[in-house]
Amino acid sequence: MRLGVLVSGRGSNLEAILKAIADGSLPGVEPCLVIANRPGIRALDVASRGGVPARVFARDAYPDVMARDAAIGLALAQAGCEVAVLAGYDQVLRRSYFAGFRGPTLNIHPSLLPRHGGRGMLGIAVHRAVLEAGDAESGATIHEVTAELDAGPVVAQERIAVLPEEDADSLARRVLSVEHRLLVETLRRMAAGALTVGASASMTAGPRDRRAGGRI
Ligand code: GRF
Repeated sequence: MRLGVLVSGRGSNLEAILKAIADGSLPGVEPCLVIANRPGIRALDVASRGGVPARVFARDAYPDVMARDAAIGLALAQAGCEVAVLAGYDQVLRRSYFAGFRGPTLNIHPSLLPRHGGRGMLGIAVHRAVLEAGDAESGATIHEVTAELDAGPVVAQERIAVLPEEDADSLARRVLSVEHRLLVETLRRMAAGALTVGASASMTAGPRDRRAGGRI
C-alpha cells in the first residue's frame, strides 16, 4: 500500500509510521511521498531522515488555493500513492485535490469525533475544550476526509479516560501516544486487507461532490 502523508509541523505521527515500517511492524506499507504546506518544519526532517521524498507546496508559491490543492492531489497520484493520510495537516483541502488524487484520504484528529471537531478545533484548543466540557473521556479518531470538516465516516477510534486534575498539556500528550498507536494499527489493517476505506466515497462521489478536508 503506497502511502502519501501530508504534514504541517511536528511530524510525530509521520515518525510513528516510519518507525513502524523500519522495525517491520507495518508490513506492506510503503511511504512514497511526504507533502508539506510550509518549509522548515520538523516533519520534513523526519521525512528526510526516513529517506522519504518530500515536496513543499507553500502558500506563497500557490496564491490560488484551488490550484495548490490540485497540484497536491496530482503529486500524490504521480508518485503512485494509493492512500493519503493527513497527519497534522493544518489546512482544508479543496475539491480540486480530489480531482488529482482519487484514493482514500484519511485524517487523524485528537478527540472523539464528532465531539470537539470542526472550525477552530486545532491542537491544544481541542484538549482545552474537552476539559472545559467536563468530558469523562477523550481519545483519537481517524476518519475519511469528506466535504464536511472533521465529519467524514469514522474509520477507527480509541478512547481514554480523562484523569482527575488533568490539564490540557497532559491530555494532549496522552492522546498523542494513542494517535501514534491507532494510526499505525489502522494502516496495518488496511494494508492487510482487513479494513476497506473509501470504497463508497470513491465509487459514489465524483471530485465535484467532495470538497473540504480534515486538518488538525
Ligand atoms: C495530532 O494531534 C493530530 O491529531 C492533529 O495534529 C497533530 C499532529 O501532530 N491532526 P504531529 O505533527 O503528527 O506531531
